[in-house]
Amino acid sequence: MIERTFVMIKPDAVGRRLIGEVIARYEAKGLKLVGLKMQIISRELAEKHYAEHQGKPFYPGLVDFITSGPTVQMVWEGEEAIAVVRKLNGATNSREADIGTIRGDFGLTVQKNIVHASDAAETAEREIALYFGPGELWDYPLPAEAWLQE
Ligand code: RTP
Ligand code: MG
Repeated sequence: MIERTFVMIKPDAVGRRLIGEVIARYEAKGLKLVGLKMQIISRELAEKHYAEHQGKPFYPGLVDFITSGPTVQMVWEGEEAIAVVRKLNGATNSREADIGTIRGDFGLTVQKNIVHASDAAETAEREIALYFGPGELWDYPLPAEAWLQE
């Protein structure tokens, strides 16, 4: 099934000049970029985004980190895009993430782990709506599409 998922490149990856490397992974896999922006997110937005983690010991540090610098917001589309992107990103702890994944190849910490991605269909819908208006997402054909769809 064709899905859309929300991805954010975190401040550590922007600061380490890894935006291109991350985008290249999703493109090489065959996913399609349908929305893209860059911003320093407000505390208010960060708290909404990470509401599920409120009360956990790492929550205050996480909100500080995610608001500490520019981030890149994206929506990627493709066959089972939600699960595929989570697989490409790798395990939360970058040190334990498999080599070949984004976190496994580029990260060394749990918190500063390069990327965020939606973990389920409802999360994807909620997160896309948090960051993108309907006029900011694009429907367009790509020449190789037939090779990348069931
Ligand atoms: P994400 O939401 O960023 O895609 O990552 P995830 O699903 O793999 O991990 P999640 O459990 O949702 O945690 C959200 C982010 O919080 C930071 N974290 N720190 N210090 C800690 O124990 C800890 N645990 C999680 C990470 O930045 C993680 O991506
Ligand atoms: Mg998560």
